[in-house]
Amino acid sequence: MLTVKDLTKEQVEGKRVYVRVDFNVPQKDGVIRDNNRIRAALKTINDLVEKGARVILMSHLGKIKWKEPDAAKIEAMKKANNMAPVAAALQELVPDVKVHFCPETRGEKLKAAVDALKNGEILLVQNTRYEKGEEKNDPELAKEWASLADVFVMDAFGSAHRAHASTVGVPSILKAEGKLVAEGYLMIKEVDNLTRCVEVADGDRPYVAILGGLKVSDKIKVIDTLLRKCDKIIIGGAMAYTFKLAKGDKIGNSFLDADSLDYARKCLEMAGDKLVLPVDSVVTDSFEPVEGRIVKIVDDIPEGFEGVDIGPKTQELYKREIAKAKMIFWNGPMGVFEQPEFQAGTKAVCEAIKDLEGKAFTVCGGGDSASAVKQFGFKESFSHVSTGGGASLEMIENDGSLPGVDVLK
Ligand code: 3PG
Repeated sequence: MLTVKDLTKEQVEGKRVYVRVDFNVPQKDGVIRDNNRIRAALKTINDLVEKGARVILMSHLGKIKWKEPDAAKIEAMKKANNMAPVAAALQELVPDVKVHFCPETRGEKLKAAVDALKNGEILLVQNTRYEKGEEKNDPELAKEWASLADVFVMDAFGSAHRAHASTVGVPSILKAEGKLVAEGYLMIKEVDNLTRCVEVADGDRPYVAILGGLKVSDKIKVIDTLLRKCDKIIIGGAMAYTFKLAKGDKIGNSFLDADSLDYARKCLEMAGDKLVLPVDSVVTDSFEPVEGRIVKIVDDIPEGFEGVDIGPKTQELYKREIAKAKMIFWNGPMGVFEQPEFQAGTKAVCEAIKDLEGKAFTVCGGGDSASAVKQFGFKESFSHVSTGGGASLEMIENDGSLPGVDVLK
């Protein structure tokens, strides 16, 4: 596969290079909480700028629910997910390069902005999801965007599981026209690291997966794949309680994914001791952090209480399993780490992985667990922390294949 590194100055200088980035950053009212995803794309952007390309950046931001019948509500969603503050954040990170912003996603204004772009300058285009056809991979939309580009570079690993117009439609058209399509540096790094978790060399065993999250149903495909690939799967987060009930344990008022109970039972039967479940839990009578709520540690969860973190015995059990690993793939926190009283389980997993530094290959698969790893200061202890939550899970599920990667081949 062609990479941005292979693209020569002659191939890109003065050319319109369409780069799909994932600038879907956490933000509210235009204030960006974490610019990690912007920083992660800088290597590709700077490389192209240095080679004199006219760099067009496209990304989605947040969600626009087009099924919403009330037009005013759609407008409000658009306003809440305006890309303009992201352009300002990018400009701060590349002070020596001119960053333009185009508030339109189609039409004459966009075309004029692209035409006006000089060599070595950047144009960030408004949120691709302002277009209804983006998520449907609408061919007309993809055609219009493709007409703005001479070269395509995919660097949006976090969006590579989405077969949308901006991720798959555009490169398909450009490829068919004989134009250059390539992978960016972030994509290369992400795909290399996650491929190792998919291919599983003998030297990477024992291979331990750590899974958390709310619903078993969201993780069925990945659990099935990991059961084939891994030596142990450690379960935490709310989905552990569905497994515990399936096993016959008491779960009180803990979150239950009732539709997945049968699956959980079958899974336990099939997996035997490959699946490791919590043996104790931190429970509370109020999920809301109100004064006077009861928080305690129990083996069996009584009625009126819900599990919100793994308990200390489980932490020790999980640390022992993690200590044996040669490779770790982690997705999903162990508890409600956003609340300080329920952080200990997730921190314990971070600490156990830190102890593996230099001894094992450790990957945090993005999403909430990546936020926790960063919040607790463990990012440098991992071999790789992915920028894509859904994308890394789907890559594992699909044995290494993702629509946004496959289209480049
Ligand atoms: C992500 O944050 O996982 C990616 O940017 C994809 O976003 P999406 O789930 O809204 O498609």
